[in-house]
Amino acid sequence: LAHTVTFNDGRKIPQMGLGVWKEDNAAAKRSVEQALHAGYKMIDTAKQYGNEAGVGAGLKSGLKANNLQRSDIFVTTKIFNGDQGYQSTLDNFKKSLQHLQLDYVDLLLIHWPVDHKYKDTWRALEELQRQGLAKSIGVSNFDEARLKDLLSDAKVIPVVNQLEFNPLNQQQKIRTMMADLNIRLEAWSPLGGGAALNNPVIVQLAQKYQKTPAQIILRWDIQQLVITIPKSTHEKRMVENSEIDDFKLTDADMKAIAALDQEKKSLWYDDFKWHNPNIPEYDTVHSWP
Ligand code: A2P
Repeated sequence: LAHTVTFNDGRKIPQMGLGVWKEDNAAAKRSVEQALHAGYKMIDTAKQYGNEAGVGAGLKSGLKANNLQRSDIFVTTKIFNGDQGYQSTLDNFKKSLQHLQLDYVDLLLIHWPVDHKYKDTWRALEELQRQGLAKSIGVSNFDEARLKDLLSDAKVIPVVNQLEFNPLNQQQKIRTMMADLNIRLEAWSPLGGGAALNNPVIVQLAQKYQKTPAQIILRWDIQQLVITIPKSTHEKRMVENSEIDDFKLTDADMKAIAALDQEKKSLWYDDFKWHNPNIPEYDTVHSWP
């Protein structure tokens, strides 16, 4: 949990944090409290998760209970598809801040590249950064073509692109492009929703290092400077996921995991609906990456 990486804007982010997708407000409040208790310093939410208020409540009580300051933690949220566009992003982000009970977020992302809107949305993020309401700004779920298009007009280069990333889906092509631009990879669903945890190579490495499969995968992220946000609603697992500083994967083992890439293109990637603003708010909380 002590590892940080530096963004292209000079700011630092804790390399491992807690993701809270699919958690309702009550669960998110509890998870955030547990995570802060377990020593996590970074929390990743989104308006679309429908739990910003729960995260805000958990931050408030969790900071107090653990004697932490706002500046000790790093909070990320994301612009909902239906809010994209310049003015709408500015207006709706202020509501996110209210729900989170915060004066600023450390990182604000465009959740999905809504076609014909993401450039205006990005201008709004640049403005929010200028105003100090979002310290760093970035994107999520951008493919190469959309990232290139965004950059053709952008004044600020995104600090991250948050993508689905796990040993079975390593996003090799876009990572090369991002590395050239100094855009960091942030991994959502780093445990691959279970499939990667049962992979025989991962299981074998877990035996070798006397660690769990989840710890092997997360250590693999950390060693290649990927920012990672495993989700768990159980404090025991949050602690397990954070206990990865007492071993180091060898280069050969790093390569063995890299070789598991199936270039499995995620189903959502080309799906029209993710790039469309007309998704009813919150009714898809449980199926929305
Ligand atoms: P739970 O919330 O019940 O702990 P990802 O972030 O890759 O999408 O993975 C999240 C899923 O993996 C959640 O369903 C979570 O379940 C589960 N999970 C999180 N940490 C671990 C772990 N250390 N071992 C096994 N499963 C885990």
